[in-house]
Amino acid sequence: MLLLAAAFLVAFVLLLYMVSPLISPKPLALPGAHVVVTGGSSGIGKCIAIECYKQGAFITLVARNEDKLLQAKKEIEKHSINDKQVVLCISVDVSQDYNQVENVIKQAQEKLGPVDMLVNCAGMSVSGKFEDLEVSTFERLISINYLGSVYPSRAVITTMKERRVGRIVFVSSQAGQLGLFGFTAYSASKFAIKGLAEALQMEVKPYNVYITVAYPPDTDTPGFAEENRTKPLETRLISETTSVCKPEQVAKQIVKDAIQGNFNSSIGSDGYMLSALTCGMAPVTSITEGLQQVVTMGLFRTIALFYLGSFDSIVRRCMMQREKSEIANKTA
Ligand SMILES: NC(=O)c1ccc[n+]([C@@H]2O[C@H](COP(=O)([O-])OP(=O)(O)OC[C@H]3O[C@@H](n4cnc5c(N)ncnc54)[C@H](OP(=O)(O)O)[C@@H]3O)[C@@H](O)[C@H]2O)c1
Repeated sequence: MLLLAAAFLVAFVLLLYMVSPLISPKPLALPGAHVVVTGGSSGIGKCIAIECYKQGAFITLVARNEDKLLQAKKEIEKHSINDKQVVLCISVDVSQDYNQVENVIKQAQEKLGPVDMLVNCAGMSVSGKFEDLEVSTFERLISINYLGSVYPSRAVITTMKERRVGRIVFVSSQAGQLGLFGFTAYSASKFAIKGLAEALQMEVKPYNVYITVAYPPDTDTPGFAEENRTKPLETRLISETTSVCKPEQVAKQIVKDAIQGNFNSSIGSDGYMLSALTCGMAPVTSITEGLQQVVTMGLFRTIALFYLGSFDSIVRRCMMQREKSEIANKTA
């Protein structure tokens, strides 16, 4: 009897794996597609643009600094696969004025056609202890990391729904999955993206529009180098428990997941574990993904508790060292 039940269970799981691809979204064809990348002049955004260009897409790069945009355009154009491909540059601050963002998206659509994929990658990180961060930093990070993703998405969504085709990618962060020492302002701005993305996916799925939320780990970019200049010791030590990724590797994975219409995009085994652990009520785009989450949850929570314990001990050690040196300074 037990053997029969086990055989039935195995057959059921196998069946689910077999039908899983049938209910997954149809992959988006990138050759000839119009891809808009905010933050496309540097780091992860630039590598995403290169990856899409290599697959035959037409690209609109959006960022503020015009020189950096032109430099990125030249670099991307080296990867063309046909002589029809175009890289368009638009200089705008995506976090300030919705009407301005809507206008530039309209201009891009007039030149290169309706947007097939929007990648919201413009963003920044500032770290520091909660009481040391200026209140204006919280406002700035919400503007750029959250509203800077809302505005471009709002500008493309109606056409995507009408055409019954589209992908919107939100580049969050692993710090948008768990709150870490020093990231009170940054984590909150990246957590907000997950709520936006989950709600939006439910609205647009019937229109064949798929949302991807990417959770990159520490990645070797100009933005990361800038962030490191002011990172508290505790944040740096916690970050150093995992390795730093190459932006090309991160971009490849994000583009692959966006094409497939996967809701979650994570990098490496740490990223996979975090995404499974923090999935909550997030949608899944394949039965296999859902099954994996159900099966691995207990194991991953156990590993996560070990990580959290080691992070707590890093913070405690730093605090004790600081107190010791303060006492030594006072008595000297
Ligand atoms: N690198 C990491 O370790 C890491 C890890 C997790 C998540 N992320 C996220 O990945 C994204 C890209 O990070 P990155 O490290 O590649 O950064 P980066 O090298 O500093 O590039 C940021 C890009 O965003 C643009 N940008 C910034 N503010 C903008 C604004 N208000 N309006 C329009 N464009 C703006 C920048 O150009 P201009 O300055 O010229 O506007 C630049 O093109 C960010 O959202 C970041 O939070 C990064």
